[in-house]
Amino acid sequence: MALFGVIGDPIAHSMSPLMHKSAFNDKGIDAEYVKFHVQKEQLPDAILGIKALGIRGVNVTVPHKEHVMSLLDRIDPLAEAIGAVNTIVNESGKLIGYNTDGLGFVEGLKKIAGEQLENKSMLIIGAGGAARAIYYTLASSGVKRIDVTNRTPGRAEKMIEGCPFELHSDFLPLEASEKTLQQYDVIIQTTSIGMFPHIEDSPLVISDLKHGSIVSDIIYNPLETALLKQAKQKGALTQNGLDMFVYQGAHSFKMWTGITPSYTIMKNTVLQQLGGQHVNR
Ligand code: ATR
Repeated sequence: MALFGVIGDPIAHSMSPLMHKSAFNDKGIDAEYVKFHVQKEQLPDAILGIKALGIRGVNVTVPHKEHVMSLLDRIDPLAEAIGAVNTIVNESGKLIGYNTDGLGFVEGLKKIAGEQLENKSMLIIGAGGAARAIYYTLASSGVKRIDVTNRTPGRAEKMIEGCPFELHSDFLPLEASEKTLQQYDVIIQTTSIGMFPHIEDSPLVISDLKHGSIVSDIIYNPLETALLKQAKQKGALTQNGLDMFVYQGAHSFKMWTGITPSYTIMKNTVLQQLGGQHVNR
């Protein structure tokens, strides 16, 4: 049997085990996927444990995505640029770090925006870890125009300046960005604002949007945030964070097994779990 897992702190509510197990079952792969509660000071030992126990693949979640990098044998260039690892592949005893968060987002976005993203003008709300994964992955896949709005200007400017891929980006304060929303084909919300239980909160007020624009929020609890409700009322096509979560997992699964898992089975497993939790719709 092949062993996989996810390390984080806290980890009790992670939906990754059930999601991956549904995919292993579906593909007839003899595998187990376990939640490992690892505290910061235990991280080096936990990483050595992956090698010692022959664990084939591991997802890394909060708060270890950055710190884990110095403990691995090699880091994929995209994960290096993002500065965070969410997937470890054990290649015959060598641990390689990847980041599939941005890849998961981009795959989900292509489903509603089409394959050609290069010439779409985009705005990212936020400049934290999730924003960086999405911004750098979009830039690496050839998107030429991505502006950034954030509460703290310095953080956004650092993210823009640190991008190794060529593109045009301006920083806008949150209030200023509210006045220019109609310029964008795609608006991407990456902060935790609007997440359960603060479901009435929204990072900005939407007045006018470009005809046919897409508003994507990486939150999936609730499935429709206050921002997405506003965007829908203004005529936008909206997307919640479920696609990003499922596709980041699907990318990890493919890296570990070489097999593309069923998106539908994974998504339905997550939806079922969310239904059992506190989703407010
Ligand atoms: P993650 O790794 O999940 O992206 P993070 O690195 O803590 O989390 O980043 C959170 C993002 O949400 C940041 O853009 C943060 O803005 P700041 O850079 O100004 O801190 C944003 N954010 C979180 N709470 C916020 C709030 N109440 N108002 C405005 N922005 C907020």
